[in-house]
Amino acid sequence: MKIGILSRNKNLYSTRRLKEAAESRRHEVEIIDYLSCYMNINSEKTTIHIDGADLPYLDAIIPRIGANRTFYGCAVVRQLELMGVFSINPSIAITRSRDKLRSLQLMARKKIGMPITGFANSPDDIDDLIKLVGGVPVVIKLIEGTQGMGVVLAETKKAAQSVIQAFMGLKANIIVQEYIKESNGCDIRCFVVGERVVASIKREASSDDFRSNLHRGGSAIPIKISKEERALAVKAAKVMDLKCAGVDILRSDRGPLIMEVNSSPGLEGIETITGIDVAGEIIKHLEKILPSGKRKHYHG
Ligand SMILES: Nc1ncnc2c1ncn2[C@@H]1O[C@H](COP(=O)(O)OP(=O)(O)O)[C@@H](O)[C@H]1O
Ligand SMILES: [Mg+2]
Repeated sequence: MKIGILSRNKNLYSTRRLKEAAESRRHEVEIIDYLSCYMNINSEKTTIHIDGADLPYLDAIIPRIGANRTFYGCAVVRQLELMGVFSINPSIAITRSRDKLRSLQLMARKKIGMPITGFANSPDDIDDLIKLVGGVPVVIKLIEGTQGMGVVLAETKKAAQSVIQAFMGLKANIIVQEYIKESNGCDIRCFVVGERVVASIKREASSDDFRSNLHRGGSAIPIKISKEERALAVKAAKVMDLKCAGVDILRSDRGPLIMEVNSSPGLEGIETITGIDVAGEIIKHLEKILPSGKRKHYHG
């Protein structure tokens, strides 16, 4: 297979590992800086170019779109889809996953458990919004935040009011969420490939934070998850239509709750902590979905 990895940096751990895993399984790999791609949208012939030439022929792509490049990155994925290239995660699913509110709404529709979440536009509704999610403490999140940046824990009503007011004043879209205390600063990252959790880790926030993101100084250990957690992670990825997803779960008194579903989950933490070849699982999934007879050729 000819596999394109859409990534801005070939030296990133995840990019390197995907290339290595694909090559060790005898596939050809092209690392494509999607911001360098440009395209012709045309009903006769749709094309995509890079550095003055046609983009090389590809059977499949693994998009690794940076959180701050969603718009352009998804346009490139969409263009490749138009040309018959298979994307492990469809462009529409990536777009959806980048909006925390939209994702939660999609999952609520399928009865997936999540922390109680509120959304409002007007500062006049702040008090009611806090009440709606069960009162303080509350977690306030930027809808398009990532790596724990833009996630705030407000322990008192005063703090919650001022943080929400400040965000609203900046015209930033936020959600206000019930704080799951009993998770104790821990969450579970399930790495879903296809319809299987291939690896899972428990992440724990550093002692002076409530956010367990590894980028925020959290630490992690491998963990065996329950059948219920496994089923929930797979269902969440499925509802989002993601075939490669990092599904984050909080353990609450009322059972596992979905916190978020990431469409370009990092490989470094999960592979080094569990020793599992997650990159290899991703490549094997592409082989299963695109057996050689089914590969489309879009050039020529
Ligand atoms: N409702 C919540 N209750 C308890 N902890 C939470 C809650 N929401 C988020 N957290 C903590 O904050 C971290 C970051 O939140 P998350 O929604 O995953 O945002 P990001 O996309 O920035 O990672 C989570 O990994 C978790 O540790
Ligand atoms: Mg997160």
